Amino acid sequence: MQSREQDLIAAVIMAAGKGTRMKSDLAKVLHPVLGRPMLFKVLESLKEVDCQLNVLVIGHQGDKVKEACADFTNLTFAEQPVQLGTGHALQCALPRLDNFNGRVLILSGDMPLISKDVLHALIDSSINNDEAMTLLSANSPEHKDFGRIIRTPNGEVDRIVEAKDCTTEEYQVTEVNLGAYCAKADFLRQYLPLLQPSNAQKELYLTDLIKLGREAKKKIGAVVTEDIDCALGVNSRFDLAKATQVLKERKLRELMLSGVSVLDPQSTWIEEQVEIAPNTEIWPGTILTGKTIIGSGCVIGPHTQIKDSVIGEGSYIVHSVLDTAKVEDNVKIGPFAYLRPQAHISSGAKVGDFVEIKNSNIGEGTKVPHLTYIGDTDIGKRTNIGCGTITCNYDGKLKHRTTIGDDVFIGSNSSLVAPVTVGSGAKTGAGAVVTHNIPEGSVVIGVPARPM
Ligand code: UD1
Ligand code: CA
Repeated sequence: MQSREQDLIAAVIMAAGKGTRMKSDLAKVLHPVLGRPMLFKVLESLKEVDCQLNVLVIGHQGDKVKEACADFTNLTFAEQPVQLGTGHALQCALPRLDNFNGRVLILSGDMPLISKDVLHALIDSSINNDEAMTLLSANSPEHKDFGRIIRTPNGEVDRIVEAKDCTTEEYQVTEVNLGAYCAKADFLRQYLPLLQPSNAQKELYLTDLIKLGREAKKKIGAVVTEDIDCALGVNSRFDLAKATQVLKERKLRELMLSGVSVLDPQSTWIEEQVEIAPNTEIWPGTILTGKTIIGSGCVIGPHTQIKDSVIGEGSYIVHSVLDTAKVEDNVKIGPFAYLRPQAHISSGAKVGDFVEIKNSNIGEGTKVPHLTYIGDTDIGKRTNIGCGTITCNYDGKLKHRTTIGDDVFIGSNSSLVAPVTVGSGAKTGAGAVVTHNIPEGSVVIGVPARPM
């Protein structure tokens, strides 16, 4: 069905404020909830609404906010050079809506839990009741610092009064303004210029549009939501932790319902973008972050931290730290292993205790069981790396690679001084210091290592 022009939707997201109450050097909307800037959550919920235009109002650290949003290609930016209040923020966005005659969703970048359902409820109320402006409210005695919805004796919304401007009587009102609205673009063009900073904070309040609309006999609507989570406007780091907790619980619930066991949700941290296949167990104290992907049938943890890594199926990873690593199927890692960027562990391999691996390929079925450093190294299949082996990849100036073939036996406490190659089937004796290439199938011992 073809939409009527007045039913088209645009969005304005206000994100110019400093976020004074965060007491932070970072712009408030860039503070992460469960690993990603809170603003992203708002922008993502908007993706579920068919908006013609998304205007992001930036100001404080505007360049950083703009840069952070580079992946959101559907944004138009409006600058608010000085932050004179939410009404002023909207005034700054108005020129971007010049030729737009539909309805405008007005949101704040500090509402990471806003849901698409609530956005649709606002739009539906606005269109179905033909309201000039529709606000979102909830009954919550807890949100003491939110604006109060003041209704007339017959129950119509009369005005919003900010907590700081409330009389004692108004302060007792428990219906609060959640800070999301839908308004006709025409209404905004007509009434935004009339806002006055006549309040405790000497700001232009967007919320005063309600009173202006009422006085002009415009239709004002209110969607009263039960979804109190979506109201969580993040103003302080305390609010941030609360929002993060809600998102974390949602993520864990979603995983558990999809067939992932999370043995102790309280002590488990799994960020939003992490993907885990069913039949994998996540043990207590585990932290999975970034774009980590874990296959089915794995046991992860206890006490394991994995960032931006890909894990295959049926692998065990206990008490270990992985950063940007790739682990294939049926691999055993830990306890106490450290896989650094570009560590690639092939199927059936084992990486044991106190082993650090960086920028290296460990072949299928190869074992690096204990006390070893492998850096800038390629190891073939079914090779055994003895306890205490070190690839000496750094000569003080440059890094060099080590190559170890298939079915090699590296004796305990060997040092492999790169660049060096150990041919397939070769062996080194315990304590060997390998400074020259070792041909396939040969055995070397000693310091420096020589053929036996
Ligand atoms: C606002 C509402 C309040 C509501 C609450 C819900 C007003 C006047 N008050 O208060 O009724 O209960 O949200 O969370 O609107 N911003 C700008 N430019 C500015 C000022 C703010 O872009 O000049 C942005 C901020 O970055 C923030 C959003 O607008 O993302 C809301 O501003 P904030 O100062 O947090 O408003 P509240 O005091 O929370
Ligand atoms: Ca706020």
